[in-house]
Amino acid sequence: QGHTAPLPNHRQDRALEAAAEPRTFDDALPPFTNEPDTDPSLPVNQAWARDAINRSAQPGWLDAQPVPASLAEADVDELVATARAAAARWAARPAAERAALLYATADILARKRGHLVSIAAAEAGKSVAQSDPEISEAIDFARYYAHQALELDSVTNAAFTPDRVVVVTPPWNFPIAIPAGGTFAALAVGAAVIHKPAAPTPRCSMAVLEALWEAGVPRDVCVGVFPDEGPAGKKLISHPDVDRVILTGASDTAALFQSWRPDLQINAETSGKNALIVTPSADRDLAIADLAHSAFGHAGQKCSAASLGILVGSVYSSERFRRQLVDATRSMVVDWPTNLSATVGPLTEQPSDKLLRALTTLEPGETWLLKPRQLDDTGRLWSPGIKDGVKPGSFFHLTECFGPVLGLMRAEDLDEAIALQNATDFGLTAGLHSLETREVRTWLDRVEAGNVYVNRGITGAIVRRQSFGGWKRSSVGLGSKAGGPNYLMLLGTWSDTTAVA
Ligand code: SER
Repeated sequence: QGHTAPLPNHRQDRALEAAAEPRTFDDALPPFTNEPDTDPSLPVNQAWARDAINRSAQPGWLDAQPVPASLAEADVDELVATARAAAARWAARPAAERAALLYATADILARKRGHLVSIAAAEAGKSVAQSDPEISEAIDFARYYAHQALELDSVTNAAFTPDRVVVVTPPWNFPIAIPAGGTFAALAVGAAVIHKPAAPTPRCSMAVLEALWEAGVPRDVCVGVFPDEGPAGKKLISHPDVDRVILTGASDTAALFQSWRPDLQINAETSGKNALIVTPSADRDLAIADLAHSAFGHAGQKCSAASLGILVGSVYSSERFRRQLVDATRSMVVDWPTNLSATVGPLTEQPSDKLLRALTTLEPGETWLLKPRQLDDTGRLWSPGIKDGVKPGSFFHLTECFGPVLGLMRAEDLDEAIALQNATDFGLTAGLHSLETREVRTWLDRVEAGNVYVNRGITGAIVRRQSFGGWKRSSVGLGSKAGGPNYLMLLGTWSDTTAVA
């Protein structure tokens, strides 16, 4: 276990925070702090990462990891009834007990960081550099929602009835953090979880559930299942005794679920088409680094990824800016996770038709600033591409492609840049690089996105500091954001809203 202990200054911060903060309802838990990522500069951690990756590359290793049971249509009623009964017992336990179990789960995830890195590499092709922070995020979700469960318990009385049965359907691109976030939130309020992993990454999901069971969360309170395609999945989502679905995935999937059951309570964080604006006042070196990392980290397979760079005025006409952006992109190591330096890994699956179109064709007016190349015969490893001259209203301007392609657009001024940024149906993340306060204010007033970032990359939201969720078609049924202070309040019904202070 090479993972570093928190640095000394981190411990001091905790002590200071504990001394300074008034004692509150959640005193039973240590104060919340974000779990630090593994420091890759330490030789001990490099050896730890090498071990984890070598393990994952051994033949047969992945196949030996548990997957959920397959669920037939005929078994759905019993599954939901069992979960409902388990939820009654779980919800009857004091919130402090559920919170303590989530804290214990966090500790287990921290201890198993190497194992989780191995699974994410073997199953999703995630590099250590990309999976390590998502394990920190999963740990944060457990601890944060534990605190929030106590807070919710302290401010509510009979007015809040938590959901009993919640179906969690996570995506494959953050195969540990997002399965963990939805599951922990539902468990925190006292619901039972039926967890349906994303098809490409069932073992990552199971590793999260195993941590819960090891901590002492009853097995019947969180189960992993793989519904048969079609009937079993439809029956599960439409089941009248399922109170809610927490979905992270494509907006089409959310629409499909709603078509199956129009009265479905759904909290869905869905697609995005995200842009980062760079104005002439920006620190251009910083903007270039943020653009490249937001576009190409994990091969662009993030709902939060920067898919468009909207360059204002002299930034667009600057050859130097383009050259540096290309250089920054070329300097990112594109490889399979066995190369520990890789930050742009393989696609988790074969490219979709949309992505293939984005990787291989140009629309009218576009040129390649950097042409993507398929690097091996798996079809999954591509060097990043940059398209110049993306036109307003074009395919690439408006379509989420979910891969390592960045499009550059020209805007005359900030007004036009904001219009281009807001023109898509989605509104998940958005960025602005500008050193002019006036520009920042204008942008903040008008940008239509759930997560807005100034002079920073637009991926990698951190629990509590940057709660995560979208606007417009990027969100369905969410009045609040994951990893933020009000998320748990969504997971139930309120009979008297005045009870919320
Ligand atoms: N929370 C992730 C990010 O911010 C996306 O799901 O990048």
